[in-house]
Amino acid sequence: MKIHIQVIRALQDNYCYLIWREGSGLCAVVDPSEAGPIEDALSKLGLKLALILNTHHHHDHVGGNASLVKAWQPDVYCSAVDAKRIPDASRGLVDGETFEFDGIGFKTLSIPGHTHGQIAFLIHEAKAIFVGDTLFSMGCGRLFEGTPEQMWRSLNRILSLPQDFQIYFGHEYTERNGAFARNLEPDNMAIVARLRETRESLSMGRPPSAPTISDEMKVNPFLRARSASIRRTLSMPNASDVEVFASLRRLRDEFRG
Ligand SMILES: [Fe+2]
Repeated sequence: MKIHIQVIRALQDNYCYLIWREGSGLCAVVDPSEAGPIEDALSKLGLKLALILNTHHHHDHVGGNASLVKAWQPDVYCSAVDAKRIPDASRGLVDGETFEFDGIGFKTLSIPGHTHGQIAFLIHEAKAIFVGDTLFSMGCGRLFEGTPEQMWRSLNRILSLPQDFQIYFGHEYTERNGAFARNLEPDNMAIVARLRETRESLSMGRPPSAPTISDEMKVNPFLRARSASIRRTLSMPNASDVEVFASLRRLRDEFRG
């Protein structure tokens, strides 16, 4: 069974995703930032919205909920932690919980750090993970509600998935993140290649393709706290992984490059 994943850009730099089974007229949407672009895509594709999945409660991930619920009456699933602060939430999910939508099997992964209630949605059959604002191309989310320890554990939960899973991010931040990553690892040619491929896609009006976990581990400094070259740059050869991660996150918060 083929599962379609359609990327939709919204607001300034958000990514939303429509998910549906080949031949079906129903779809789910991940993190509808605003209703307009989702409605446009639904009408273009001839799909009905039956499920909203929210990775966390930030407005740019749930801003379209109310209007889409009014128009389509979909279910709205999110973390049980966020159920009271997400508009129209109809089901709160716990870590590891599975559910099925129109024949597509989903699993929830709790990945706190950016917020307490941040979760990822996995589709094993599509080898896909929707990570919200936990991970970005060459970057990771800011620690608004969590600690470096929590975020490091969450990132490692993602890394422990099969390496060919593709990561679907909540934002397009490649350019700034890439500048930061290059500063840390000027000799890492995979970073240069990621920047080039992303620019090419965006310049043609296409979202860049979702990288695999194994691709992302080659370029994302926040997944590379164990890397000798990054530790050398930071002068932290013997620090713990989480100390290196915390230092990287601090440096990125201050980065103006
Ligand atoms: Fe967020």
